[in-house]
Amino acid sequence: MKTVEIDLGSRSYPIHIGSGLLTQSDWPSRLKNQQICIVTNETIAPLYLAQTKALFKDKTVIDVILPDGEKFKSLDTLALIFDGLIDAAFDRTCVLIALGGGVVGDITGYAAASYQRGVDFVQIPTTLLAQVDSSVGGKTGVNHPRGKNMIGAFHQPKAVITDLDILKTLPDREFSAGMAEVIKYGAIMDSTFLQWLDDNADALLDRDVSALQYAIARSCECKAQIVAEDELEGGRRALLNFGHTYGHALESLSNYSRWLHGEAVAIGMTLASEFSMALGGITAEAHQQLVEKLQKFNLPISADTDITSDSMIASMLRDKKSRDGNIRLVLLEGMGNAFLSDQYDRKMFTSHLEKVFAAD
Ligand SMILES: NC(=O)c1ccc[n+]([C@@H]2O[C@H](COP(=O)([O-])OP(=O)(O)OC[C@H]3O[C@@H](n4cnc5c(N)ncnc54)[C@H](O)[C@@H]3O)[C@@H](O)[C@H]2O)c1
Ligand SMILES: [Zn+2]
Repeated sequence: MKTVEIDLGSRSYPIHIGSGLLTQSDWPSRLKNQQICIVTNETIAPLYLAQTKALFKDKTVIDVILPDGEKFKSLDTLALIFDGLIDAAFDRTCVLIALGGGVVGDITGYAAASYQRGVDFVQIPTTLLAQVDSSVGGKTGVNHPRGKNMIGAFHQPKAVITDLDILKTLPDREFSAGMAEVIKYGAIMDSTFLQWLDDNADALLDRDVSALQYAIARSCECKAQIVAEDELEGGRRALLNFGHTYGHALESLSNYSRWLHGEAVAIGMTLASEFSMALGGITAEAHQQLVEKLQKFNLPISADTDITSDSMIASMLRDKKSRDGNIRLVLLEGMGNAFLSDQYDRKMFTSHLEKVFAAD
């Protein structure tokens, strides 16, 4: 087992990463809480709920099984968790355990942040995306019909338990979408890791446990380093949005139905890298290597739709990270070194999008 410590003063916590943590490990005995509420969804419950419950034999354990899907990341679904907790008369000493991907993790975290003004929270992330991204950093929340993640709170877990065996049942497309975030960490801050991903691509695609352990731990370290410097998202944390301003626009223009988030981010990273190349920040060779890596992990690199450049720009301007009519972008100055800018040449930005997307 490998442990990555997230260093946030009194809110610090460990991420344990290894094989078999859901069956043969001693972390459950270290949880002091007597009341345990496991929140999962209807896809994951038949696969992993029984074995998770079995970890807490001498305690009071309840479960809440949510419907599966981003569209259920809502206030209505959140209420199901509160109903379960109140029906069982759970008090402020309880712990909520999120057993699932980012959707279950985000809702459960927000329930833990607000139930009786805040209770303990543990994550057992079951998607690669949740293991490398959503379980690190403490952002929790639900969507509003008019906007993603509009209602939420920062609430750090007590621990994250990442069992690598859980990924064996994850569909290939979801696995690749998680790899987009892994590649992102290399692109923004660690070119050596990018090279390692190239050298170990086949093992990762085979879900080899030791390759996964290294890739997930390194990804968590990268995110943890940025989060520790900027827990509440004032500055450097924005670098994690590499590819995301473009990606969010693509997701929104396609009504969140065409691409998984990681797939839209892969296309977004291709665009951000290409624009960085146009600005002279990276070489054509470095850009090509990034594109080939995304392709190696079965990720899309172009939108290939009738989305227009005008609609892309309008959508990017609506992004909550754009300020004063300027689209803030994460760009590359050398592979493995990202920076945040809204001072780039606006004409070049527009003409790049006009080359890639259809005209009106
Ligand atoms: N809090 C954060 O910092 C943060 C960061 C990134 C993303 N997110 C959020 O995460 C969500 C996306 O998370 P996701 O990509 O994990 O999607 P998800 O939670 O919807 O899971 C994807 C699908 O895989 C299924 N699944 C999960 N684990 C499985 C397993 N081991 N075996 C078989 N099937 C499995 C799920 O039931 C679901 O159908 C979004 O809502 C996004 O906003 C949050
Ligand atoms: Zn993302």
